[in-house]
Amino acid sequence: MEADSKSRGGVRLQKFIADCGLASRRRAEAMIAAGRVRVNGETVSRQGVRIDPERDRVEVDGSRLRVASKPKTTILLHKPLGYLCSMDDPRKRPLVKDLYRELPGRLFPVGRLDYNTSGLLLCTDDGELANLLMHPRYKFEKEYLVTVNGRFGPAELAALCRGVELADGPARPLSASMVSSSARRSRLKLVIGEGRNRQVRRMLEALGFKVVELQRTRYAFLTLKGVPRGKWRKLESGEIDRLRRMALHD
Ligand code: URA
Repeated sequence: MEADSKSRGGVRLQKFIADCGLASRRRAEAMIAAGRVRVNGETVSRQGVRIDPERDRVEVDGSRLRVASKPKTTILLHKPLGYLCSMDDPRKRPLVKDLYRELPGRLFPVGRLDYNTSGLLLCTDDGELANLLMHPRYKFEKEYLVTVNGRFGPAELAALCRGVELADGPARPLSASMVSSSARRSRLKLVIGEGRNRQVRRMLEALGFKVVELQRTRYAFLTLKGVPRGKWRKLESGEIDRLRRMALHD
């Protein structure tokens, strides 16, 4: 607790009480004047005292106050082709954030999908959750349905599973399997734990194949089920807890 100097840090006690949602600032001043407020066990009846919300213990009528942290939002978006994951584009191309502009808060994509990749994209305003999901250590599974030009057969699949060399180091899928194969086009399912830039496209390029279509179909246990292209749904708190548990019990 500090004396009244404005130049010191912290917040004014009456503002803190108001931010906690207990009363208006004016009512908070009245509570202080009435001797109902204690800071670190001492009654404060003078106005203008500044406190450090992180360190000081503020009680009103004996109950401790805490600033409620703003509720966070995380959504599962079905990204269509032709949308950018950046928050801004000088060329004014469509942005994924345009698809959820009705949501309050500044949600940003967790990692990226290329402009010409569709599928499951998580977006959140919870920086801590985003860090956890993107941390290379936790290797959250990302599953892709990949269409390549030409015949991709068992020999190519085996080579992919052994791993390929990319400019930024070796890359190996967690798993890969064939969906269909023909002389013109082949489809495979690929699961990776990392999220390097254009990783799937580069892995296939390393084997001489061009990716002509790419869709992310799964992120950890989350799928696109029930979410049409261009739409989103909020993650439930149970799903967020499960993601956190997956990281913390790795
Ligand atoms: N790998 C890619 O190459 N592109 C994506 O958008 C996602 C994964």
